[in-house]
Amino acid sequence: MRTVNVNASKNYDVIIGENILNLLPQKIRELFGNAKVMAVTDSNVFALHYDKIKKELDETGIESDVFVFPAGEKSKSPEVLFDLLETLAEKHFSKSDVLLAFGGGVTGDLTGLAASLFLRGVHIVQMPTTLLSAVDSSVGGKTAVNLKAGKNLAGVFNQPELVLCDTKLLDTLSDEIFADGMAEVIKYGVLADENLFDKVKNGNVKNDIEEIIARCVEIKRDIVSVDEFDKGKRQLLNFGHTLAHAIEAQSNFEISHGTAVAMGMVKAAEISYKNKLTSSDFSEEIEAACRKNNLETLCPYSTDILAKFASSDKKISGKSISFIVPERIGKCVGVKLGVEEFVKMLGEN
Ligand SMILES: NC(=O)c1ccc[n+]([C@@H]2O[C@H](COP(=O)([O-])OP(=O)(O)OC[C@H]3O[C@@H](n4cnc5c(N)ncnc54)[C@H](O)[C@@H]3O)[C@@H](O)[C@H]2O)c1
Repeated sequence: MRTVNVNASKNYDVIIGENILNLLPQKIRELFGNAKVMAVTDSNVFALHYDKIKKELDETGIESDVFVFPAGEKSKSPEVLFDLLETLAEKHFSKSDVLLAFGGGVTGDLTGLAASLFLRGVHIVQMPTTLLSAVDSSVGGKTAVNLKAGKNLAGVFNQPELVLCDTKLLDTLSDEIFADGMAEVIKYGVLADENLFDKVKNGNVKNDIEEIIARCVEIKRDIVSVDEFDKGKRQLLNFGHTLAHAIEAQSNFEISHGTAVAMGMVKAAEISYKNKLTSSDFSEEIEAACRKNNLETLCPYSTDILAKFASSDKKISGKSISFIVPERIGKCVGVKLGVEEFVKMLGEN
């Protein structure tokens, strides 16, 4: 078992280990006394794993309830958010009670936002059950729902008070969903840790998954603790993501986030080299690592189509974009580009 402490606007532990669900009741008592727990989970995770946490909570006499929503990105919506808020109100949850986000990134983002809105703020614990949520979305406090106009357009920063990651829960993930998380792991390797990249570049990561998750969380912690509100250094975490968002949108979200990130990282590395933003071409190395981890890397769209989407990305502030380029494996930097310049660069590739 490993613990990573995050010191942002809230100070909290991220505890990672195999078969650690039994820590949940003890930690809830320690942090929140006699609080009541509302577990929030999607239909898949409910069917696969909810009985395990329910048993732990019941055995220690912690009062709990569950809110289940249909699995999938479509549920990261204002409708499901308000359904959850109404349920909390009907069931008389109070300011001292706890929301427990038990699931992947969709569950975490939705529940984190609900926790900041209900009674202007109740406690929030994240229990990630996908690799992507373990290494990325459960830590750092970004929460959101999607609007008709685009992904993650309504949200707040709301750091959790505890993250409990039981790696045993990842055993039931399909290969595709596991691979989605590996795209983010590879991203962390490229942007901050060559040893991590080397460790994962040939695939076969499952035996070391606790160590890998902990390293990714440390990297995210180091970035979030200096730029919690995404004004500067945190933008490094967007390596491959400006293009990934365009790829996801163009595919009408048929291409998963992880696959889009894999395609986006390879394209970003290619574009960086062709436009002399970096002195070497790392695209083949990144592509090989993605493929070894079951990620498709061949983007089906031309770059000028992506340029159109990328220029409307919310991460493009005003007239410029911070495009993240790999200086080497283990270090990325942000290059400020005019939107027109960026779109032209994409169109020419
Ligand atoms: N807040 C952040 O910083 C941040 C960062 C990255 C991504 N995100 C968001 O995260 C979301 C994607 O996360 P995700 O890929 O975890 O999606 P997800 O929550 O939809 O989970 C993917 C699928 O895996 C299933 N699942 C979850 N746990 C399982 C388990 N243990 N066994 C079997 N199936 C399981 C889910 O039911 C779902 O069908 C997106 O909405 C994205 O915007 C947020």
